[in-house]
Amino acid sequence: MTAPPWKIKVVEPIALRSEPERRRALEEAGYNTFLLHSDDVFVDLLTDSGTSALSQEQRAAMELGDEAYAGSRSFFRLEQAVRETYGYRHVIPTHQGRGAEHLLAKLLVEPGSIVASNLYFTTSREHVELAGGVWVDVSVPEASDPLSAHPFKGNVDLEALGHVLAACAPELIAFVRVEACLNMAGGQPFSLENLARVRELTLEHGVPLILDATRISENTLFVKDREPGEAGRAFPELIRAIAELSDGAVFSSKKDHFVPIGGVLALNDDELAERARELVVVYEGFPHYGGIAGHDMEALAQGIRESADEATVRHYVSQSAYLGGLLLERGIPIVLPLGAHAVFLDAKRFLPHVSQEEFPAQALAAALYLAGGVRSMERGIVSGQHGDEPYDGLELVRLTIPRRVYTQEHLAYVADVVTGVFERRDQVPGLRMTYEPEHLRFFQARFEALGVFLEPSVAVAEPSTP
Ligand code: F0G
Repeated sequence: MTAPPWKIKVVEPIALRSEPERRRALEEAGYNTFLLHSDDVFVDLLTDSGTSALSQEQRAAMELGDEAYAGSRSFFRLEQAVRETYGYRHVIPTHQGRGAEHLLAKLLVEPGSIVASNLYFTTSREHVELAGGVWVDVSVPEASDPLSAHPFKGNVDLEALGHVLAACAPELIAFVRVEACLNMAGGQPFSLENLARVRELTLEHGVPLILDATRISENTLFVKDREPGEAGRAFPELIRAIAELSDGAVFSSKKDHFVPIGGVLALNDDELAERARELVVVYEGFPHYGGIAGHDMEALAQGIRESADEATVRHYVSQSAYLGGLLLERGIPIVLPLGAHAVFLDAKRFLPHVSQEEFPAQALAAALYLAGGVRSMERGIVSGQHGDEPYDGLELVRLTIPRRVYTQEHLAYVADVVTGVFERRDQVPGLRMTYEPEHLRFFQARFEALGVFLEPSVAVAEPSTP
């Protein structure tokens, strides 16, 4: 693993609850890791969202926050950081990524219009559909195959996109969306070449190309390392080259930008940006703060600069590679190639005795918590199924790595916990859903066990902690 280009100055205590306490906490949470209290969690790999460690430069910058309602200095510093790093002309802060997605859907999606995208993200699709739009997945088929070693599973299927664009009048296409390090496929990148081809197609058909640039830094690193001819380019230059192929972007800054809260809608088109500023005052706040504080904008501006630092990004990606490597050595089924921000367990192969209707990934996430206080996230049928449509897609558990937070020892501990559950996988039963929310059900659904999870007599043998 690459040594981190930072050292630790402030620490936050964590503790491993006993097995009976974890069992009780799990039952009270309805077997949904989102409903656990963080005090009951030892290593929290639920998400990389808003969970990074701030740098001393970010903390210092926060002291300079200008909390003026309008015309805040902090806004202009944020605007400058976005322009310098990515080149977009207009910068609209939002409270987080989904705030930007909401504005974008309101701006561009009409009832019946289409958004074509490499695989969906939950909130991105929901906003498009709430605005009356239709989401069409045009990712390469390898994106949905956890066994494919394709180096760019985040690529758009150019033929499929071509068909969608050719079949519709341009005004029926709201926008083409390309997500960096495709979250739902395992944090898989697109290639610069693929994005350039998507760019050509969108220009040919006169439709906007919007990036979900939430994890653009990691995508850039994969381009540099895997794409022929790109190794010699400076990292910031490559980030900029990717962004410049698009008309705009949404960012959840809670990931690559190392902030606990914040997002950005970035646009090049003057008229569209004007309309976005009209909407932002309705839904987020004045365009000079968009739902976050002046000090948040300062931390964000500094975080954007740090996200263009190759050593920082390289260390982060090497943490996923380290954890994934340990699991691979032990024969644990994971998604390959190893992605950016997480290691994804393939629950279909991990728990072959649990049918997809009994929520194997949800059950596996529950078992990992019970076995060692490790919190992960379901990315399978609970997150992916849409209405009554049958779902037989990916069934994954995401072990997501917060940036600059956990050490190699924590990751080794996680690997031991996963291995322990794998050895006792026959003691992980399926689940039955007892409460299903109408929207984005994975956040708050509740479940009941269809058998005993990890017989207590066995689970009592506590894993050794770091
Ligand atoms: N786009 C992508 C690719 C995301 O991963 C997320 C959030 C969003 C948009 C929405 O941004 O949370 O700031 O409102 N992903 C988090 C995750 C929740 O855990 O993967 P947000």
